Amino acid sequence: MSNSPDADNSALEIWGQHSLSGNVTISGAKNSALVVMAGVLLCSQPCRLRNVPNLVDVERMGAVLKALGVKVKRDQDFLELDPSDISHTRAPYDIVSKLRASFFVIGPLLARMGVARIPLPGGCAIGARPVELHVRGLQAMGADVQIEHGTVHACIPGIRGRLKGAKIYLDYPSVGATETLMMAATLADGETVIDNAAQEPEVADLANFCRAMGARIRGVGTKTLTISGVPSLHSTDYAIVPDRIEAGTFLIAGAITHSEISLSPVVPEHLGAVIAKLREAGSDVVSESHNRIKLIPGDEILPTNIQTLPYPGFPTDMQAQFMALMTLSSGNSMVTETVFENRLRHVAEFGRMGANIRVTGNCAVIQGVPMLSGAPVMATDLRASAALVLAGLGAQGKTIMSGIHHLDRGYEQLERKLTQIGAHITRLEGADAQAAVEIDGAAATVQQRQV
Ligand code: UD1
Repeated sequence: MSNSPDADNSALEIWGQHSLSGNVTISGAKNSALVVMAGVLLCSQPCRLRNVPNLVDVERMGAVLKALGVKVKRDQDFLELDPSDISHTRAPYDIVSKLRASFFVIGPLLARMGVARIPLPGGCAIGARPVELHVRGLQAMGADVQIEHGTVHACIPGIRGRLKGAKIYLDYPSVGATETLMMAATLADGETVIDNAAQEPEVADLANFCRAMGARIRGVGTKTLTISGVPSLHSTDYAIVPDRIEAGTFLIAGAITHSEISLSPVVPEHLGAVIAKLREAGSDVVSESHNRIKLIPGDEILPTNIQTLPYPGFPTDMQAQFMALMTLSSGNSMVTETVFENRLRHVAEFGRMGANIRVTGNCAVIQGVPMLSGAPVMATDLRASAALVLAGLGAQGKTIMSGIHHLDRGYEQLERKLTQIGAHITRLEGADAQAAVEIDGAAATVQQRQV
């Protein structure tokens, strides 16, 4: 693992207002890698994945697959997965409870083995996150699905039965439900149509991976996916797409520090909404080649409203980072979160740095301030942790961010990549981290009392 083994006892020390410059290498997409790893279960031959980011979440998905009997071998950004001998059909609770995406093994496991027992993932910091769309879709394909004692028990009735193709309409274009049902349908008997499917690039990446294994899927990247089931899938070698959320996070790092930075490899079309909103906020993003873009910062950060939506709308996974930028804008902005019900917890932490934000329901009204000041802050979830790093880069003085186990779940060496382009960030471990949090926390309390 590239990041700290004990991130619970670590903290990041960030010195703000340093200019950045240079090129950042963007890793493979976390959300693609996780679901493509689950998708390997559909095949009974070894598969090789390339451009797999080295992340705690990826390690956890590897552990779930190992528990099912998959042989997992990692070599730099390659992952060799051999699912020839699946020995178990029950995923371990202790890992599923830490990694919601591991629930997504239910579709491929059921389709290939005829049975799957997966603990309910439960809620998480950003909301309740139910799975009824996954369950209803599998039932429509003929699976018998019961939820008992917190575990989803799914099986295909009959001996050596196959799921059956079905017409499925999703009430909401859920990314996970689309992925679960698309994977299940690849091995079903007959044709499955998923209407109101999620169009996220990671869903398309999974579809392309399944096609590389011989699956027959039409409508990739659209709202209607048509999957003609095949009896079996074969081995493949597949490269994960670049992470659009990591790329978006770095674009904001450039905008908030008024720095010109380049990013590659990226798929610029995957960043459409983020680039449009960055332009509204006064920066520009230009193409340097087919897979390389450059952020050109504006003199002023302009107030900009965003509303999170399913793709191609503005991604909920970029909401906190964009809000960090808006805290320093020259006016009032509104951020409306429509995808998850509890995803504004970072607001209180921005407040500690001097941001002026008022929350009503799922809306945050941000009155831009001329300056943020470094402070001790606590990351509340994965994207909030990245947003606090960004705020720290734009703030005057020192920010100490704890809770960096969230960051390590989904960003491959964020602080190293930022340091390489000029940021002043250090990872403090153990006693050093503890001391920094305590000293800075005490200083902040004194300052607050004096105000
Ligand atoms: C995926 C991403 C996550 C991203 C999210 C939305 C992965 C591993 N994670 O999560 O980073 O923030 O898409 O882009 O790919 N819902 C239901 N019932 C269901 C399923 C979902 O009500 O059965 C609701 C959820 O509670 C949420 C909304 O639908 O409010 C969106 O969730 P979904 O698109 O399923 O997100 P995930 O696949 O969990």
